[in-house]
Amino acid sequence: MMLSPANARPSAPVASQVSLILVTPDVLIERVILSVLRSEPALSLVRTCKDTVALVNLLERNSAPIVLADIDQHPEQILRELEYLGNRFPGIRFVALAQDLTADLALLAMHSGVRHFQVKARINTELVPTLYRLMPADEELTGEGGAALTVLSASGGCGATTVAVNLANELQLATAQAVLVVDLDASYGTVGTYLDLRGEYGVSDVLTPERRIDAELIATTALKRSDHLHALIRPLNTGFATADPIFVERLDSFVRACKLGYGFTLFDAPRMSVEAATVLAKASQKVLIVLQSNIKDIRVTRAMLDALVERGVIRDRIYPIVNRVRRRYQMITLREVQQALNVTEVGQLQNDFKSAVRSINYGKPLAEATPRSKLRRGLMQLAKELSALYAGNNGKLRAHATTG
Ligand SMILES: Nc1ncnc2c1ncn2[C@@H]1O[C@H](COP(=O)(O)OP(=O)(O)O)[C@@H](O)[C@H]1O
Ligand SMILES: [Mg+2]
Repeated sequence: MMLSPANARPSAPVASQVSLILVTPDVLIERVILSVLRSEPALSLVRTCKDTVALVNLLERNSAPIVLADIDQHPEQILRELEYLGNRFPGIRFVALAQDLTADLALLAMHSGVRHFQVKARINTELVPTLYRLMPADEELTGEGGAALTVLSASGGCGATTVAVNLANELQLATAQAVLVVDLDASYGTVGTYLDLRGEYGVSDVLTPERRIDAELIATTALKRSDHLHALIRPLNTGFATADPIFVERLDSFVRACKLGYGFTLFDAPRMSVEAATVLAKASQKVLIVLQSNIKDIRVTRAMLDALVERGVIRDRIYPIVNRVRRRYQMITLREVQQALNVTEVGQLQNDFKSAVRSINYGKPLAEATPRSKLRRGLMQLAKELSALYAGNNGKLRAHATTG
């Protein structure tokens, strides 16, 4: 049985070679595969390793879009490991190789996110067409994948990072998709602090002009808060905020690569130049502008909105979120904000300083630090609305994915 049909190979010419990694302790299988691939110049087996431990080491250093994994030694355990690796290296497609396919194994394979189940006896006839089908298609290199959400901010301290980080977390909880949060704050990046993540590498290592940006580079650079919540942070090396430039010309391919690897990517993007904000906004399904309900923030938000729309961003994609709304004594009502901004809807999050600060102090998202708080509930609601954006076409075969 195949998890999805492996029909004839596409007729379109193949632009570049696709590298494969094989995991098997069995030299005979390796030989069979090498011989099938010999006549396929577009497919090249770059490495073989014996087990999943060796595979992790390989994947940390090399990227390969397709991994063929022999599961016969411990089928269930290996499939579980592949599921874990699928979350850790989101761009990779796994093909499971096994002697027989039982109904139980097929189900397990499907749940683990494996793209194809290959019975060993039919490798000769089936494997190559399958690999062609799994190859990253050209449209995928330029195309959609998951959803991107850009969080702009109307002023420092308005709560943009709180929104970005917690939305990311709520989205992964609500959808069981892998979610990436990217800290684009060049001067005071705090995503790492808010999630209690520390590491040497971050956004700057991906955005440097020297490197080709792809989903694997992002997946290996991102820090893992959990199986489904990853972050590209700003490492705090010196204790002083150092402003390094965002390479605007690289942002577009960066966003595309993020979308290929993750169901959702959130960009915490304060203090952007209008050029950078436009690139992000155009590549995003929604652009949130976080503001507080005061004259200054409303004016800034209005100016940002107009500038983006003038540059071709669709107005309906821009969603202002009024943060720290008070139930009483609110000087400017939400309706007035909406009118001033000339939009059909604004989101709102309650003022809830205690919860917000508690979450930061513990380095935990609100869902963990204060799960019942008003602020958390507001963000959960927002995540629910936004989860409808999941394009669903960076497509693992997941009936019910599990959260970490
Ligand atoms: N809804 C809210 N109610 C009360 N305090 C909030 C709220 N959202 C954020 N804060 C607090 O405001 C401060 C700034 O938040 P932060 O998300 O870092 O803002 P920004 O990223 O826009 O600079 C933090 O202390 C945070 O806890
Ligand atoms: Mg911030």
